[in-house]
Amino acid sequence: MGKDSTNILEVKNIEVVYDNVILALHNVSLTVPRGKIVALLGANGAGKSTTLKSISTMLASERGKVTKGSIDYEGNAVKDQTPSEMVKLGMVQVLEGRRCFGHLTVEENIIAGAYSRKLSRGDLNQELEKVYSYFKRLKERRKS
Ligand SMILES: Nc1ncnc2c1ncn2[C@@H]1O[C@H](COP(=O)(O)OP(=O)(O)OP(=O)(O)O)[C@@H](O)[C@H]1O
Ligand SMILES: [Mg+2]
Repeated sequence: MGKDSTNILEVKNIEVVYDNVILALHNVSLTVPRGKIVALLGANGAGKSTTLKSISTMLASERGKVTKGSIDYEGNAVKDQTPSEMVKLGMVQVLEGRRCFGHLTVEENIIAGAYSRKLSRGDLNQELEKVYSYFKRLKERRKS
């Protein structure tokens, strides 16, 4: 399995409970095939964020728990990992609200995003240039 599996992510029949009593998700399943984009739609409070936090393992910090079902990422069970371990495996949850570090410059914010990759200064500069080639305005405003 591992990186050869056709699906990057497989969520099967998960149930999530907050505070040991609040049932937030019941029987949720979804699959993300390699090379595809999947959108999760639903009303306020339907459980979209809870589903994503189950996958990124950020639920624990909100006293939430996956109590049934399974989550497989790159063919391996997601269970006892921490969010930072998931980031190292390439699974990053971008939280809603477009938050960034207000006291840092644009460029410092981008560099902060690369923190966990432990790049050399040269590689970091190359990656910065790549980001700036996609988003030219960011380069103009990099000291803001
Ligand atoms: N930390 C928490 N503790 C207890 N219950 C929670 C917690 N977070 C979410 N819930 C409950 O879980 C259910 C699903 O909420 P969730 O935030 O996942 O929905 P959502 O689809 O992301 O909603 P929105 O569109 O408003 O972002 C809701 O009933 C909500 O009240
Ligand atoms: Mg939400």
